[in-house]
Amino acid sequence: MIKFVIKQSEDEIAEEVALEVISKIKKNPRFVLGLATGTSPVLTYKKIISLAKKEQVSFKNVQTFNLDEYVDLKIKEQSYHYFMYENLFKDLDFNPLNTHFPLEEDPLAYDRLINKTGGIDLQILGIGQNSHIGFNEPGTEFSSWTHVVTLTEKTRLDNARFFPSLNDVPTQAITMGLKTIMEAKEIVLIILGSKEEALRQLSSLKVNPLHPASILHNHPNIKLYTTKDLYQKAQSIK
Ligand code: F6R
Repeated sequence: MIKFVIKQSEDEIAEEVALEVISKIKKNPRFVLGLATGTSPVLTYKKIISLAKKEQVSFKNVQTFNLDEYVDLKIKEQSYHYFMYENLFKDLDFNPLNTHFPLEEDPLAYDRLINKTGGIDLQILGIGQNSHIGFNEPGTEFSSWTHVVTLTEKTRLDNARFFPSLNDVPTQAITMGLKTIMEAKEIVLIILGSKEEALRQLSSLKVNPLHPASILHNHPNIKLYTTKDLYQKAQSIK
């Protein structure tokens, strides 16, 4: 069952999620944190950085697992690895050996590695307008582990804003599967931006493979953070 947490602003969401992450890492310095890229978690990462600095919390023994990465990327600066470095890793004392990304050569090795570290304690997620989580597009099997996907034109168009041109957007990516994500002990889903349709879908309790995020209804420990404005917009869609 998804617990909806509705806040006045993005800032309040970021503050609350960051506080939660920091307090968990204080309790367990070997915390295993699942990370997302994209716009939605950026402010949360900023707050994590400032709180960690203020309270002198070390991330050197924290393990991180990112949701996804592009395959065959020509421009290194467009990689999710680079994004994480710029938006989180470079400002804290992460050990590069502990920051993990899936590799297309052996997708399932990622699931094995996650298992070996004891599993993801908290997974941060964003959502696509079409309800994708990670790069799990509509129709992805709920039983999927980490795998290579061919990106839909919709997702390539959505992501083209980060590339010089649409031609530069890769056609494939590697992503944790829906099963990988569901194995996380706890999930925080941050819904911001023009995601009213995805949010509306999640407000109904139906689980449907055409809305990949709907599987999250079956997770035992998940919170969905959104703003009051976006929530009201979603409710008003007929
Ligand atoms: C990113 C990821 C994607 C994004 C989603 C929302 O690692 O897995 O599923 O979370 O596309 O992106 P933003 O936050 O940019 O709207």
